[in-house]
Parts: sequence; C-alpha cells; structure tokens
Amino acid sequence: MTDYSDTHTTSAAAAAAAGTAQAQLDQSPRSPIPVEDSDRPIEVDDLQPGDGDSVYDDDFSTFTASLTSSVLNYPIEHGRRYHAFRAGIYCLPNDELEQERLDLTHAVMTKSLGDRLFLCPIDISKMQRVLDIGTGTGIWAIAMGDEYPHAQILGNDLSAIQPPWVPPNVKFEIDDVECPWVYEAPFDFIFCRYMATSIADWPKLVSNAYDNLAPGGWAEFQDFDLQYYSEDGSLKPESYTYQWITTLLDAARQTGRDPCPGPKLEGYLRDAGFINVEHRRIRWPIGPWPRDPHLKEVGMYNWHQIMQGLEAFSLRLYCQVLGWKEEEVMVLLGHVRNELRNPGLHAQFDFHVSYGQKKPSSKGKN
Ligand SMILES: C[S@@+](CC[C@H](N)C(=O)[O-])C[C@H]1O[C@@H](n2cnc3c(N)ncnc32)[C@H](O)[C@@H]1O
Repeated sequence: MTDYSDTHTTSAAAAAAAGTAQAQLDQSPRSPIPVEDSDRPIEVDDLQPGDGDSVYDDDFSTFTASLTSSVLNYPIEHGRRYHAFRAGIYCLPNDELEQERLDLTHAVMTKSLGDRLFLCPIDISKMQRVLDIGTGTGIWAIAMGDEYPHAQILGNDLSAIQPPWVPPNVKFEIDDVECPWVYEAPFDFIFCRYMATSIADWPKLVSNAYDNLAPGGWAEFQDFDLQYYSEDGSLKPESYTYQWITTLLDAARQTGRDPCPGPKLEGYLRDAGFINVEHRRIRWPIGPWPRDPHLKEVGMYNWHQIMQGLEAFSLRLYCQVLGWKEEEVMVLLGHVRNELRNPGLHAQFDFHVSYGQKKPSSKGKN
C-alpha cells in the first residue's frame, strides 16, 4: 500500500460539494430507518405536465463549485480523466465532474438511510479502527472522522482524489482492494459502499473483510442493483432508457465486474462466516415523481446524479467493451436524457444494505 498523503491532488469541488450535501442533510431531522415494503408500489404524485419544469431542470449549480486542476497525470479518454494506478480496471472517470457526482450520490445514500452513515449496531465506544474500502472522494470517511473523533478512519482507493484538509483522524491510501490485504492490526468496522462495476471477486472481498476484523467487529456493505424498472409499467422495455441501462449492465458483466451486487451481499456475508446478518432493500426513484416527500427528495437528487453521470457511466463500457463510436453513445444518451425528463416515467432501482458481525470468539488470523 502506498501512503500518498503528501502528494495527492487538491479537490475543491469534492470538498465544496461535500459541504453542500452535508449542510442539506444537517437541515433536516434524522428520520426513521427505512424499512422494506416491497409489496406496495411507490405512490405517484399528481405532477401535471409543466409542473416538472423546475424539478426536472438540468441546473446543477447548487452542487458545483469552482475547480482546481489536477496535478496528477491521469489518462484522458473521451474527454474524461481516469485512474492511473492499475489503469483500466475501473470503468468510471475520476475527474471533478465525477467527484461532484459521487458527493451528490453520498447525499442520496445517507438521505435514503434516514440521514445515517451506516446502519449496523456497532458499539461506538469500541469503534477504534475503521476501514472504508474504495473511498472515492473520501466523503464518507471524512464524515465518520468528524462524527467520531476517537476513531481512526482509513480510506483506500485506486485514485488519489481525496481532499488534503481532512480531520486528523482520517487517512487515505492508494490501494487495489482486490490485492492481498496487509494491515498491521485488525479493524473494528469495515465499510464498503457503491462498488458495483468495481469488484471481480466479491466472495474474496467479503472474506478479506472478515479476516481483517477484530472478533466482534462489524462489516457493512451498501450497494446497488443498477437494473432500472418501474412498478406501473411506465418504463417500457423498448424505451431508450431501458435499452441503454440493460446494455450497459451487460457490458459491465462482460468485464467480469458485477453491476448488481446489492441483492447478493447478504449471501456473501453469511458465506464468509458473519453472524447477526441483516439486509435491507431501499428503492431509489429516478425523479421527484413519488407522492411521499422523503421519496420525492431522494428521487430528485438521484435524478440529478444520473443526469450528471450518464456519460461517465457509459463511455468506457460502450466504446471499449461494446465497440460503439463516441458519437453513437452521445446520440443514445440524448434520447435517454429526454426520456428521463418526462414526469410520466416512474423508473427506479434498488439500493441494498447488508451488515454482519465477526464471531466474538473467532480464531481467525487476527
Ligand atoms: C462509485 S465509487 C464509490 C466511492 C465511495 N465508496 C462512495 O460510496 O462514495 C467507486 C470507487 O471505487 C474505486 N475502486 C474501484 N475499483 C477499486 C479497486 N480495485 N481498489 C480500490 N478502489 C477501487 C474507484 O476508484 C472509485 O473511487
């Protein structure tokens, strides 16, 4: 593992967006932990055509900030910047636009969990060492460092995109989490979020987490099933949006990295030996179409992160895996954007949370 704390790039966008997202979360009281209610479709609000103009507006200004240029020599493809360490294994860019999207998605994830960073019932007083696998902009690790100053938080990632001004108890490393783990001491809490399309061997990752926990420690995985669907039939199989996402997920599978690990997390945890395993499925509407105010807000932020991310999601997978021309991808994404602006489309996908505990009496390597 390489400690790059003196050399990593400055990301004003990440920090500013993190502040904005956190400020938005701080304004609202913490809501109850959402419980799966899978049999009851989400109720649609009575949006009239035209009412949607402001909420379906592409204006991203509340989430953006002035940017500083990167000092690292990352490869540029299709006008986007990608990670350089173990180049090519991760399909999304790491540039400022993507960092803003990750920080916005952090806001959606915590919002959808009732303004929580995690759900597992860890004894906070015993939470000394925390690992954040694939930390991205480090926004979760930084929030944890702020909230739990007695804990030491370590975040790792392929990209050095974390800001330098972090709480003193937060540290970042460049690392490939699919390489052997060589930590000098076990962790009390291992967290892993939004690694869909990143991981080639999920069972190995989850069992590495188990082996590197202290007895009685907790691991929590929060991830997606990125297949879009609708409960009222408004997302038609022949639509551009359905075709686009289904083809994208197929391309990700061709790279050997599961785009839909969410529903499998619980099984991975049980297979690795975790006890006290719990699982929740949380539906993420795409757009502010639900009647319920909480789901409306989640849907609005989710819609913005998707609109922001369409090219990031698509370019490497469509061009390099499927052999499309960049212009062809842009035309398809234009159609998808138009469909996603239609308030009559009630699409959604699922966010999954699974957590478990290492047996208190385990005699693992730690
Ligand atoms: C979609 S982002 C999620 C970031 C963060 N976990 C979050 O929830 O905000 C996925 C991150 O995983 C990182 N990543 C992908 N494959 C990785 C690997 N093999 N080792 C370390 N990091 C990896 C990417 O660089 C990216 O920052």
